[in-house]
Amino acid sequence: MSYKEDLKKRSDEIEEILADYAPKGDSPALLLEAMRYSLFAGGKRMRPVLLMEAVRLFDGPVMLARPLAAALEMIHTYSLIHDDLPAMDDDVLRRGKATNHVVFGEAMAILAGDGLLNCAMQIMAQNIPYENARYLEGYLRAMTEIIVAAGHEGMIGGQVLDVLSEGKGADKEALDYIHKHKTGALLTAPLRAGALLSGADEEQLAAVSAYAAAVGHSFQLVDDLLDIEGEAEKLGKSIGKDAADGKLTYPGVHGIEATRTKIVQLHQQAVKNLKMFGDKGDFLKRTADFLAERDH
Ligand code: IPE
Ligand code: IPE
Ligand code: MG
Ligand code: MG
Ligand code: MG
Repeated sequence: MSYKEDLKKRSDEIEEILADYAPKGDSPALLLEAMRYSLFAGGKRMRPVLLMEAVRLFDGPVMLARPLAAALEMIHTYSLIHDDLPAMDDDVLRRGKATNHVVFGEAMAILAGDGLLNCAMQIMAQNIPYENARYLEGYLRAMTEIIVAAGHEGMIGGQVLDVLSEGKGADKEALDYIHKHKTGALLTAPLRAGALLSGADEEQLAAVSAYAAAVGHSFQLVDDLLDIEGEAEKLGKSIGKDAADGKLTYPGVHGIEATRTKIVQLHQQAVKNLKMFGDKGDFLKRTADFLAERDH
């Protein structure tokens, strides 16, 4: 199976999981519509795919990973809805469709984002396996990992510095903090959460964490490059916005060639940490290849 086919199979699995846990019921219909609009607009589903892969790698409980996978994608989707708001990046295109606030208005987009974040917390809490002595602790550790990564010490912290750094010029330290937090945190959490849920040992946890840190860091470098060299149709989002907004980006600070070199370095670093898994690490290896060369 080609990597593309493999990823499609795995992202289809995530679509099914999301359909099971997506918000429904008797809350205001417009809110549900706005939440579901962005959640089911497509997207690579990389974060939940990585979580499910970590659970498989460590022969963990796939069924217990499902609510955590859904929660991760909901948190990520909420972060995109808020990232696109006029007060933040002011974007009109996301996942190939008009952004949430363009369709539903700003107030509803803010609330749909809040709704997805809380829905994620609700799903994780409502599925705590109280009766499962073997996996209860791992589940709670995994859930904590995801919550912390999404918060002020993780993604939100990175977004804050991203906004504060706009138009301020080169600052290598701030850039590093932004990339590791706004993007790295939510890409590291799935692998660590999957390992924790499955009861991986310290050495295994350290190896997937190092892999994830490299892939997560590189993910934003590639995103920054694609904003310069990518195609809006393939990306499903506008290009050229970072420079126009005076964003602190890796190519902006270090140049395009240095960005490419750094992506190669981070890729090598990621792959090096998979050695201990042998053939079982194959999907993660191919994922690192894909993420370094992606055009969307
Ligand atoms: C976009 O994330 C936002 C960043 C953290 C760079 P993705 O590139 O994973 O977006 P989707 O989920 O595929 O739409
Ligand atoms: C956003 O970074 C990271 C998030 C936490 C949403 P960007 O602002 O570069 O992401 P895109 O390019 O809009 O997807
Ligand atoms: Mg942004
Ligand atoms: Mg943005
Ligand atoms: Mg970007």
